[in-house]
Amino acid sequence: MGAGGELCYPCRRSRLCGVVTCVVVVLACLLLVAIVVYLVFRPNLLHATAAQADLSTFSLALKAWTLTYNLSLGLDLTRHKPRLALRYHTVAADAYYQDQRFAHARLPDFAQPAATNTTRLSPAFHGRHQLLGGVAAAAFRREDTEGTFSIHIMVAARTEIQAWALSLPGPDMKVDCPLRIQRWNASAPPPVFHPTACHVSY
Ligand SMILES: *[C@@H]1O[C@H](CO)[C@@H](O)[C@H](O)[C@H]1NC(C)=O
Ligand SMILES: *[C@@H]1O[C@H](CO)[C@@H](O)[C@H](O)[C@H]1NC(C)=O
Ligand SMILES: *[C@@H]1O[C@H](CO)[C@@H](O)[C@H](O)[C@H]1NC(C)=O
Repeated sequence: MGAGGELCYPCRRSRLCGVVTCVVVVLACLLLVAIVVYLVFRPNLLHATAAQADLSTFSLALKAWTLTYNLSLGLDLTRHKPRLALRYHTVAADAYYQDQRFAHARLPDFAQPAATNTTRLSPAFHGRHQLLGGVAAAAFRREDTEGTFSIHIMVAARTEIQAWALSLPGPDMKVDCPLRIQRWNASAPPPVFHPTACHVSY
């Protein structure tokens, strides 16, 4: 038996070495997962753009401060050079006016295969919500005269990376879109929405 064998022999017998091997394997696996997650979610690989927005109703009842809204959006998620398929689940969109959440919508789960890089999400909100405090109502009155409103849309989703036969949990994703949306007005030309870049974070 050579020197190498003598070095290995006590190792194979000891329980400590089993633990060390196990720890090394687990660390290697974690590193591999971290590299895959990093490659898929590297900054600047995922872009979100609000491409379309329709605000057909946005009005505030006097005194009661009840906001009546009907808003639909087209939100494009684009992945550059996607190499692995991604699945998004627990997808939800929230709409805020003056930092007050006035609407919530669940969106269907979806997948982005490794070849396509743009997916259009279409959150839609309609209903009523009671605004709190005079600040929001005052802001509403101000924006009402021009018919264009500052509305904040947040979309959150959980991600899963589909790599080979595996499905690895990815980070939670948040898309943050501060928008200026013009309300439909029958006595004015149809509103023009300027596509707006959203901020993506994990
Ligand atoms: C909301 O507006 C859309 C047009 O943008 C319309 O088709 C839809 O019927 C409206 N929904 C409600 C509940 O008013
Ligand atoms: C993917 O993105 C590239 C640029 O980032 C673009 O040129 C190409 O048209 C996109 N492909 C699809 C299928 O969206
Ligand atoms: C619609 O537009 C006209 C003229 O641009 C304006 O006077 C009116 O207040 C607007 N109506 C609403 C509901 O915004």
